[in-house]
Amino acid sequence: MTRRGKRIARRAACIVVLLGSTGCGSAASDGGQLPFGGTGGATAGSAGAATSGSGGSQAGSAATAGAGGAVAGSGGAIASLGGAGGMSDGGLGGSGGQSGASGGSSGTAGAAGGFTLPTVTWPSAMCQAKAADLLSKMTLQEKAAQMVMALSPTVEEVKSMAPGAVFAGGSTMLPGGYSPASWATTVDAYIQAGAESRLGIPILYGVDAVHGNNKATGAVIFPHNIGLGCTRDPALVQEAARITALEVAATGVSWTFGPMVSVSFDDRWGRVYESFSEDPTLTGQMGTAAVLGLQGAMGLGTGQPGIVACAKHFAGDGQATAGTSSKPPNGIIDRGDIKVDEATLRKFGIAPYLPAIAAGLGSIMVSDARWNGASLTSSSRVMTEILKGELGFKGFIATDWNAAIDSGGGIVPSVNAGVDMLMLSTNWQGAITTIAASVPVARINDAVSRILAVKCEAGLFGWKRDPALIASIGSAEHRAVGRRAVQESLVLLQNTGGVLPIAKTAKVWVGGSGATSLANQCGGWTINWQGDGSLTTGTTISQALAKVTTQVNTMTQADVAVIVLSETPYAEFNGDRASIDTLPPADFTLLTQAHAAGKKVVAVILSGRPALIADHLSSADAWVAAWLPGTEGDGVADVLVGSYKPTGKLSHSWPRTQAQTNVNIGDPGYNPLFALGFGLSY
Ligand code: BGC
Repeated sequence: MTRRGKRIARRAACIVVLLGSTGCGSAASDGGQLPFGGTGGATAGSAGAATSGSGGSQAGSAATAGAGGAVAGSGGAIASLGGAGGMSDGGLGGSGGQSGASGGSSGTAGAAGGFTLPTVTWPSAMCQAKAADLLSKMTLQEKAAQMVMALSPTVEEVKSMAPGAVFAGGSTMLPGGYSPASWATTVDAYIQAGAESRLGIPILYGVDAVHGNNKATGAVIFPHNIGLGCTRDPALVQEAARITALEVAATGVSWTFGPMVSVSFDDRWGRVYESFSEDPTLTGQMGTAAVLGLQGAMGLGTGQPGIVACAKHFAGDGQATAGTSSKPPNGIIDRGDIKVDEATLRKFGIAPYLPAIAAGLGSIMVSDARWNGASLTSSSRVMTEILKGELGFKGFIATDWNAAIDSGGGIVPSVNAGVDMLMLSTNWQGAITTIAASVPVARINDAVSRILAVKCEAGLFGWKRDPALIASIGSAEHRAVGRRAVQESLVLLQNTGGVLPIAKTAKVWVGGSGATSLANQCGGWTINWQGDGSLTTGTTISQALAKVTTQVNTMTQADVAVIVLSETPYAEFNGDRASIDTLPPADFTLLTQAHAAGKKVVAVILSGRPALIADHLSSADAWVAAWLPGTEGDGVADVLVGSYKPTGKLSHSWPRTQAQTNVNIGDPGYNPLFALGFGLSY
């Protein structure tokens, strides 16, 4: 048996079908214990009977247990994928009798069925021993160094000071450019430096690979999470994440700051597109699928090769009150104040993490937002009592960008409250000295043990990039999965007169700001932080339609006008908007012109949020929400011409008016333009 094979056999003792699980026997073959203290088998809850009919009811029956049982812990109000405690009634049910989303039935989980959750016991005895042995040899300074994540240090610094991790931020430039080869050269040098440090402890190298290996040119760029949530297909999300891990690991990167499992409520937030859903149950399901894809289907270190995932931003991210952002002038919601009680925080802001934790999530990024006025980065209640204590999280907690210093009240308070690793863009060297001088040794030992255990479980000791993998970046096989993700993520909002699908013989004119824009198709976090997909390789919607229809050069010649309305890319607080009227007036004018000219009009929206369209609905026959689909524009064309019949269901409620920017399922008098779960087909 290979080393990896043994690890799999040892740690993933059984597989639990997610909903209606029968649990599994004692998994602790190596003497470890189940992550949540369950003895296996004690799964509560029925499968949340299959959902159908209007309004749905996937929230279903009271399941609060997750894999291996006992996930609910003592605090109550924590749902796992079983359903209850998740969304209020009718959560994902889909509308108009479409079958529901994630209820599952007869013991299989997830919309697509067959989604499984490993019961992972870790750290293994071997990794515990490894961590303990190293700890006994480390100086205090070396221990403190493991607790920092350095932005682009020199290779010499990594060798001599051995920081725990090196990272590239969204805007980090590489001297050799963004090609996979340039990444590989850069990261290889850091890996080598870690191996040559006094104790040879491997570095983690982290990037925000949040929709594919999005900082390398030529990689397949998958739809952002808002679109993936609409697929209701965890198996597909897992596969997309597996490909992401492979393309990332091909460049030597071993850690990604994702998935984001924030339940986003307010469409003015610049990170709505990073949120799988406003529904915590669906978010947990998709987030867990992503973790399994990134780390390996049987838990951390079982991927081929896997990387370490970092679910973010714990806890309650996405529910900050508008107007409280700590990032003015652009910020409105981002890094704001989450003004909710603890039960609500648990229901929407903690529940989505639970199944991923059970499946061996390696790391979590604590939110840089505030909870009732107090920084989460220095909240011992949230990190130490709830996450590590009650929920038994075995991985390590990292901060967001400089958060300990910028908002967490300083390095020492943050670490004392439970932070294990600090993300620092400057003076990480000074942070090492501060930690060594002022943090109690027991806290340091706990943090370092966690970090070393994750590195060991992930198989990083002695790991080297496999040069053969680089050829797989952006391969046809990977792009085919991207295309499928696009097909399944599109939501058909209106189809008056059956204008869709477009006959392949029709003469089609394609216009609008998004028709030929790979940048607008990919959105933020593409090559750079604010997004520039034009620097990578892909197929625009116009190019894709040209392959399958007869494209004409003027609207006058056309039978059908396809108008692609689009937002321009943004990320984080730079994407916060006072209004969700975010689509260009010129695009709406095109709709009106085409309509007045008697054309059949198809409106395709590229956006990171549900944008205001209610007043324009009658200017087009068909409306399709395509979100930020990424590089594979062919997937959009497939839906428009009927090669793939639409199946996507809204992952977020679609506001009717500007006053409804914060409209969510379960609101009193809930009356959006399109409800959560809405999606037509033909
Ligand atoms: C974001 C994180 C991201 C980090 C590193 C921060 O600004 O909030 O989500 O992982 O930058 O790029």
